Amino acid sequence: MQIHILTVVPELLDSVFSHSIMKRAVQKGHLSVTVHNLREYTPLPRQQVDDYAFGGGAGMVMMIEPLVNAIEALRAKTEFDEVIYMTPDGELFNQHTANMLSLKENLLIICGHYKGIDERVREHFVTMEISIGDYVLSGGEIAAAVVTDAIGRLIPGVLNDETSALFDSFQDNMLAPPVYTRPEEFRGWRVPEILLSGDHRKIEEWRLEQSIKRTRDRRPGLMSE
Ligand code: 6GU
Repeated sequence: MQIHILTVVPELLDSVFSHSIMKRAVQKGHLSVTVHNLREYTPLPRQQVDDYAFGGGAGMVMMIEPLVNAIEALRAKTEFDEVIYMTPDGELFNQHTANMLSLKENLLIICGHYKGIDERVREHFVTMEISIGDYVLSGGEIAAAVVTDAIGRLIPGVLNDETSALFDSFQDNMLAPPVYTRPEEFRGWRVPEILLSGDHRKIEEWRLEQSIKRTRDRRPGLMSE
């Protein structure tokens, strides 16, 4: 899968995908992430990419021309399955959307800044609008990194048995059960005996019970989603 990210602050994203599972996904060739600097696509002097909002009011708006130049230049080389705009008024991102996007070949993600992007770009080029939660970030970059990470780890071959996504929280609309590792006892706090029993059927039953209990306690709405 190819993910292209369009931003005015490429520096913010440069190191995000060079670690851990994302690094391995890139090295193994399952994923490529290319960050593009929007300022390279503006026809205006001083690399201008934003301007005052028509109608007045505080805050700058990202201009249509640099965005369309960039989108069209990238589209000339790659056929995108989705052109995604990261915005707090987008559709709330969840595991279901991550699963769906992990099956795509090529994604273009546009990071908003300031007051957002000229609405005409959304009307004519954007196919999907994503928010990562009900709070406002100063730009779409960190949200784009969140979405890229969530998608990237689901691409077949990226995770191995030990890190398998099958048992992640949310994968069945359920939270994951608690986990423990050595030592069996620390300051008198013991690991649940069942996990040391070697009885795999009982252990799986216990984990399912714990998942259900955790989901009921913490996210009661999740199981009926
Ligand atoms: Cl995608 N962008 C911004 N700027 N803020 C957000 C967001 C995105 N998702 C939640 N808050």
